[in-house]
Amino acid sequence: MSLRSELTALFSAAFAEEGLDPSFGDVAVSQRPELADFQCNGALAASKEAQRSPRDLALAVVGHIDAPGVIRELSIAGPGFINISVTNGALASWVGAMKDDTRLGVEAAAMPKTVIVDYGGPNMSKALHVGHLRAAVIGESIKRLFRFLGHRTIGDIHIGDWGMPVGQLIVELEDRQPGLPYFDPEYDEAVDGPYPAESPVDLDDLSEMYPAITARVQEDPEVAERARRATFELQNGRPGYLALWRHFHDVSVAEQKKDFGALDVEFDVWFGESTVNERLEPMVKRLLADGVARESDGAVIVDVAEPSDKKEFPPLLLTRSDGSYLYSTTDLATIEMRVDDLDMDVALYVVDARQSLHFEQVFRAARRGGIVGDDVHLEHVAFGTVNDAHGKPFRTREGGVLRLGDLIDLVTSAARSRLEEANIASDYDGAERDRIARQVGVAALKFGDLSNHRTTDYVFDIDRFASFEGKTGPYLQYSAVRIKSILRRAFDEGLEPGAVLAPTVDQERALMLQLVRLPEILDRAAKLRAPNVIAEFAYEVATDFSRFYEHCHILNEEDVARQASWLALVATTLDTLLLLVDLLGFEVPDRM
Ligand code: ARG
Repeated sequence: MSLRSELTALFSAAFAEEGLDPSFGDVAVSQRPELADFQCNGALAASKEAQRSPRDLALAVVGHIDAPGVIRELSIAGPGFINISVTNGALASWVGAMKDDTRLGVEAAAMPKTVIVDYGGPNMSKALHVGHLRAAVIGESIKRLFRFLGHRTIGDIHIGDWGMPVGQLIVELEDRQPGLPYFDPEYDEAVDGPYPAESPVDLDDLSEMYPAITARVQEDPEVAERARRATFELQNGRPGYLALWRHFHDVSVAEQKKDFGALDVEFDVWFGESTVNERLEPMVKRLLADGVARESDGAVIVDVAEPSDKKEFPPLLLTRSDGSYLYSTTDLATIEMRVDDLDMDVALYVVDARQSLHFEQVFRAARRGGIVGDDVHLEHVAFGTVNDAHGKPFRTREGGVLRLGDLIDLVTSAARSRLEEANIASDYDGAERDRIARQVGVAALKFGDLSNHRTTDYVFDIDRFASFEGKTGPYLQYSAVRIKSILRRAFDEGLEPGAVLAPTVDQERALMLQLVRLPEILDRAAKLRAPNVIAEFAYEVATDFSRFYEHCHILNEEDVARQASWLALVATTLDTLLLLVDLLGFEVPDRM
């Protein structure tokens, strides 16, 4: 429940008393905060159905409202907007309730769902790069949000480790080191002993081999054919290839764990496409038997077009004519696994917008094949690209793909120079300064991304992102650190937060009005799968706090009750900011 939902309940009942749909009573934050706190526009929308003028209707609705404890003033503006101002007492009691609640007034979901957030999704054998950044950053935030809202939330990295790229790497390695036992079809572990425990390649080798083989495959149909064959044999359990796959896998995952860890991105499960290998064949067989899939030129496909499609909708390919499985096959089987083993209710795929056709095909096939029922929600949470100042996808200065590890170094050093410029943390020892620089760098990077709506492309501008001024992650961190130090100083003087009193200063009131929006903000961010809603709100809270602090000289205040109330407001603001920052996926240093 939030203040706004309390008001909505009042107005819905009033519309109902007029014999109209209660949903007309929806109350929103005022567009004109100088005139009112909230507004209800339902009278305009309802006037047609009611066959009355919006103004008359608004008057009648207002006549039904009787809540002197909550509502200070109601007025009708323009053709029939209802402006609503709340009492200072109501505001104080909402903030007071927030202060006493570890969840800050945000109720946990009454009907928790099992939500799988599928994000990150690097392919095996590739170093992480900027392209993986958005999936990781947006996905992590969405995962934290759903978890906070009380859902059973599972973050799954879904590594690309079972398709053609692996077959290609096998071929490339065979051409480079043909003498390795993995390629010898006669090799028998029972006789010849186990395959070597040591990987023949490291991640640098793999990342270098990967573009080399993709180029060769494109030029030479024979190489392409060998790669397909290797993929097929791997998927059908050829022991040498499996042993090699295990090396590739372990080498990549070790590095990816490091990179994602440095970004404070944590997956609950490190499943991959390979996880569902055992399911592929039976699933395809069943879909064929059920008439959902059919053979076409030796391949197996599912027709997923629907009569309402405006454009031609290509079928989903399940098996190539050589029998190998594809990205779409593993995605479909992964849905089956998540329903069977994880009890999934909702799947959110935080993946590049360019894959929208793929997901639509997979989702349709999952429904047609009865892999999910209507009670399971599948959704592609798409995002745009990270560009450079010229509107081109962001790369290194040399034009290569920037590795995520290097990117983290880059933002950390940008953060370090900003800290020096602003003379922040200058007298701390080296280790603490390094830690702060990393925290600030990660905040710069993540907030720079999350402050944009996920579907828009944005320009990567680390100097702007790392600034301590303006709408940035470091600004939020700095604000929170400042609030911590205010509370520390108060504490040192023996002062403590007390009961929240009705506000007397405009800036104090504005801050309170802002804070009590928290529940609906999180609700909205979750509904839209849009962390930028959280980012925007966090910035507003921080700026409102700064205005309040400028006007209300807390530590010098003589009225002790007022002072204690202000300290309560300060503490609640801090808790709110810390929660928001955590939901965005970064940390606030203890001091700066
Ligand atoms: N590995 C894929 C890629 O690099 C992304 C995986 C996204 N998740 C999924 N379930 N398809 O494009």
